Amino acid sequence: MKEKITVVGTGYVGLTLGVCLASLGHCVICVDKDKEKINKLKKGISPIFEPGVEDLLRKHKKNISFTTDIENSFQNSEIIFIAVGTPPKNNGNINMTFFWEVAKELKKISDKNHIHRIVAIKSTVPVGTSDKLADILGNKFSVVFNPEFLREGSAVKDFLNPDRIILGTKSEKAKKRILKIYSSIAAPKVFTDTKSAELIKYASNSFLATKISFINEIANICEKVGANVSEVAEGVGLDKRIGKQFLNAGVGYGGSCFPKDVEALIKIADSKKYDFRILKAAFAVNEYQRKNFAGKIKKVLEKEGGKDICVWGLSFKPNTDDIRKSPAIEIIKTLQKEGYKIKAYDPVAIENAKKELILPNIEFSESPFLAAKGSDVLVLVTEWSEFLKTDMKKIKEAMRRPNIIDGRNAFDSKKMKRMGFYYEGVGVR
Ligand code: UDX
Repeated sequence: MKEKITVVGTGYVGLTLGVCLASLGHCVICVDKDKEKINKLKKGISPIFEPGVEDLLRKHKKNISFTTDIENSFQNSEIIFIAVGTPPKNNGNINMTFFWEVAKELKKISDKNHIHRIVAIKSTVPVGTSDKLADILGNKFSVVFNPEFLREGSAVKDFLNPDRIILGTKSEKAKKRILKIYSSIAAPKVFTDTKSAELIKYASNSFLATKISFINEIANICEKVGANVSEVAEGVGLDKRIGKQFLNAGVGYGGSCFPKDVEALIKIADSKKYDFRILKAAFAVNEYQRKNFAGKIKKVLEKEGGKDICVWGLSFKPNTDDIRKSPAIEIIKTLQKEGYKIKAYDPVAIENAKKELILPNIEFSESPFLAAKGSDVLVLVTEWSEFLKTDMKKIKEAMRRPNIIDGRNAFDSKKMKRMGFYYEGVGVR
């Protein structure tokens, strides 16, 4: 059954949700208060770099519209997805301002007419939020917590091929109606209460982040004992109970989700007087990983001389322009403070990085080669495939000193050493 659906929020979750629902044949209205974003979207231009979104936008333009008029958008839909940002505050708590602004708008319409609507929450929210929203909206709404597990850079693929669909609600009717929206998507469905669904989201991201910090500690031990973490990870990951994904050691996790969700879950536990020791350790390891990596860079320059650093990769991971909590940004800021001169390159994230990285001591290059030219050390922080296709012989000739510090073990260490580079990875020899 094709539905009329409103999606509030046009970030990588909301916009991906909107275009994918349109591709399933639903009639979608995407709402955002950012006029500039909405104007771009009306012209078929995606305001975010997310592979596949713009194609779907164009292909299904008959099924999707864009507006800043949230009240009007609600009038025409019986199903409303909330996909607004719930970013972290400086103290690690969640900033729910945008979420509760939408709730206020929903409350307004509930007093005006008698339609029963379903509100599906996509945003990651503190445990208990769905029930709080249901109390505020009253009996003209049913609330469903329906978390997303989209990874930036593969959000469209992840939406259309989810490992599972989670529906947290006490309303049988709402459950059936939302389920129908996903009827053409084959995936296990989990029906539960709202609080369990909210915790599924936090627990999933926190477990993945913990798995990353675990392999990063193994990498640090590999450096002490002379083992190779890539081979250790391969041997460990073949155990079906462990799995090989998210066992790539490196400079640690970043992005708009893992850091936020790990801190939020720690705070939720603390608020209930429970000390979430494992997660606090995962958080601490992630902080350590960046500092330790910056230390490697400084050490090689102290030993070999030089102050000019080339940084390849600014986004928090490949295939996105997102620099939120990007290890590269934090490491560059540390190096700048110590007086090093940085030349940075990223295939798509430079414009976003320019808003974060203030002069002096930094310039942005137009190519990996120009960033490396004349540098005393080449630091890879984000493993864009473009870097692995670069002619490293030419890079070595262009550098002042042939040093590589590889934050993602992206290069083959033996090959780099054979080429005459001083090469250091994370947990590899
Ligand atoms: C994550 C979750 O994967 C997704 O399910 C959730 O909905 C949102 O948060 P995302 O943050 O977009 O998605 O990227 P992801 O691919 O999970 O990587 C997160 C961070 O972990 C990146 O900084 C990445 O570099 C790092 N990472 C990932 C590792 O350091 N090692 C790994 O093996 C995998």
